[in-house]
Amino acid sequence: MKEIRGNVIVGQSGGPTAVINSSLVGVYKTAKDRGANIVYGMLHGIQGLLENRVVDLSGHIKSDLDIELLKRTPSSYLGSCRYKLPEIQEDQEIYKKIFKILDDMEIEYFFYIGGNDSMDTIKKLSDYSILNGSRIRFMGVPKTIDNDLAATDHTPGYGSAAKYIGSITKEVIRDGLVYDQQSVTMIEIMGRNAGWLTGAAALAKCEDCEGPDMIFLPEIPFNIEDFMKKVAKLHERKKSVVVAISEGIRVEDGRYVCELTDNVDYVDAFGHRQLTGAARFLAGRIARDTGCKTRAIEFSSLQRCASHMVSRVDITEAYQVGGAAVKAAFEGETGKMVILKRISDDPYICVTDIYDVHKIANIEKKVPREWINEEGDYVTEAFLSYIRPLIQAELTPIMADGLPRHLYCQDHRNE
Ligand code: F6P
Repeated sequence: MKEIRGNVIVGQSGGPTAVINSSLVGVYKTAKDRGANIVYGMLHGIQGLLENRVVDLSGHIKSDLDIELLKRTPSSYLGSCRYKLPEIQEDQEIYKKIFKILDDMEIEYFFYIGGNDSMDTIKKLSDYSILNGSRIRFMGVPKTIDNDLAATDHTPGYGSAAKYIGSITKEVIRDGLVYDQQSVTMIEIMGRNAGWLTGAAALAKCEDCEGPDMIFLPEIPFNIEDFMKKVAKLHERKKSVVVAISEGIRVEDGRYVCELTDNVDYVDAFGHRQLTGAARFLAGRIARDTGCKTRAIEFSSLQRCASHMVSRVDITEAYQVGGAAVKAAFEGETGKMVILKRISDDPYICVTDIYDVHKIANIEKKVPREWINEEGDYVTEAFLSYIRPLIQAELTPIMADGLPRHLYCQDHRNE
């Protein structure tokens, strides 16, 4: 017989991914199947919870079709936030408020789907809960296209973004060959201070495509003069040059290349600067110095919302980590995050486990130096062997009138 459980609440936080809603479904379905009473969703994460903005998810996910649509819906269904909780010793009021809201709703299990900043929230809430004898269990569910979470082999969201980047880079390279004249196409890829996503541009190199000419990750300081020389050298033997750069590349003195532009800087609650404009800046420099045709393409949010091209491996794992978090919390775990442990590459086998969130929150996992070539302008075959299993297979969108159909949350404010 199914055990009767208390109430559950789930939120989504940080930048979205194409498969983050599959984790939401994983939490919802598993909690319901294991006897949860009400499963609430926070609108816009902890920030919305503080304003009592919650929904009963059973009013949103009403059929098997809703489940399938939600899995295939990009962006965070519940809305997201970048909200940093204060240190517990600095301000207890906000914690008292959160726990009062949770107690009033008779919440016993709290799940937060997010990256390293969101795990900071799980860490602080679980610490406060233990200090104050609360019986609420707090579990982190990993997600980020950046793939920069410690302890886990990779993060849900990364495989689909990498598949999209590999695919679209191939298409951009094909397009770059169209005219019989010299050109440079600069591609800018997300990932902040980690180069996992930018390295995925190398997937474009295959039987029918020569791949990008150079790839620059934020792990290696970027020298603009060396870069200009390398482009000139490439132009001695080929017309169309395609270069992938991370949004987070920095010059030797530590400044982001995008800071050399006249962009207006937006900085979020965690102190992260919005990184944008490095490709445009470098394309402008090439055009000015050489007169050659340039194009700057920022993949921007396209790379994290392309739900029409998800990796089936990724969307399946996104569901599994949601389910594993519920199982662990129902078994009494708290202050942990679900991690993925790769057992083998071929055949690809990966299992879930749990890990202390204190050793994950706020830590950025970088691409190892040995997975970047000696010159610092490409990734190695070992990097590609790591990434390839994560982009395999597809999940077809459910099409309506020629376009992918989504499930959208009507409780969102956009005013
Ligand atoms: O957290 C993932 C991410 O997509 C980063 O790669 C990127 O720098 C950042 O989010 C952008 O965040 P926002 O959507 O808040 O501007």
